[in-house]
Amino acid sequence: MLDVRHISLNRGEVAFAARRPAGTVHGYDAAGVVARAAADGSGPAVGARVAVFGGGAWAQRMAAATDAVAEVPERVGLREAAALPMAGLTALRALRARPLLGRRVLITGAAGGVGRYAVQLAALGGAHVIASVGSPARGAGLAELGAHRVTVGLDGVEGPLDLVLDTVGGAQLGAVFALLGPGGNIQCIGSASGEPAVFEPQALFFVGEARTLSTYGDISSPGPDLATLLGLLAAGRLRPEIGWQGGWERYPEAAEALLERRVTGKAVLDVGR
Ligand SMILES: NC(=O)c1ccc[n+]([C@@H]2O[C@H](COP(=O)([O-])OP(=O)(O)OC[C@H]3O[C@@H](n4cnc5c(N)ncnc54)[C@H](OP(=O)(O)O)[C@@H]3O)[C@@H](O)[C@H]2O)c1
Repeated sequence: MLDVRHISLNRGEVAFAARRPAGTVHGYDAAGVVARAAADGSGPAVGARVAVFGGGAWAQRMAAATDAVAEVPERVGLREAAALPMAGLTALRALRARPLLGRRVLITGAAGGVGRYAVQLAALGGAHVIASVGSPARGAGLAELGAHRVTVGLDGVEGPLDLVLDTVGGAQLGAVFALLGPGGNIQCIGSASGEPAVFEPQALFFVGEARTLSTYGDISSPGPDLATLLGLLAAGRLRPEIGWQGGWERYPEAAEALLERRVTGKAVLDVGR
């Protein structure tokens, strides 16, 4: 059980909050301090600073499975830790779909929460990183995070691509598929565009090694990977990208900014007691 100090927002949980039953405690990302340790001794001690990925995170107190928790290193702030869980884990795990060293990797929605971590982690893994954004202004800072090329939509992007992390979907997805090289893979993480994806006749026909589209939704035992991400933060190898911060009572403002594509990276809210 932890006393939550900070939470962060993800597009899906904000956009679809109204679909959940009244009384739902929303959210998946939190960081705070352990108020009660696990009875079986499997988790951190009372007073430990932790980050967590788990349902019911937008609360003052949250119960979490011990394999969903990671201790926050001393030199990492709890606010930064709260910016990590869903977006960081998604980027890390989706990038594991293919070897990265020397490979050409496209990140769509690169200015967003998942995107900004994905750009950094793909670069850390030795990939040639192409970052796709919605407008030139949204590309700001991505080269500094490790993108070798920043592009609006797919302007000038050429194949063959080895791996694509796609958070945008829509018409662009069909065009991205045509750019895959033999054995290339698209991790379909999200469809922020809200548009249908259309594949032209013959667009799915290739001779040779299969090009693939994969769904992404790995939420199993997040604790150890969360610890890896926190370790990278502590070592200064990964930057927490917090584009909006404020008190939890300003949720409507933060949610609107996120949905209107005005947040660079993550929106993190402070939770008072
Ligand atoms: N499968 C999973 O487990 C999983 C996990 C995490 C997230 N997701 C999904 O992945 C997607 C991205 O999540 P996120 O937290 O990174 O969201 P985010 O921070 O809001 O970023 C979304 C990005 O999508 C781009 N985009 C392009 N067309 C858009 C449109 N019509 N409307 C809104 N955004 C558009 C935006 O680009 P510009 O900023 O350049 O305009 C924005 O940077 C969401 O659909 C989310 O539900 C899935």
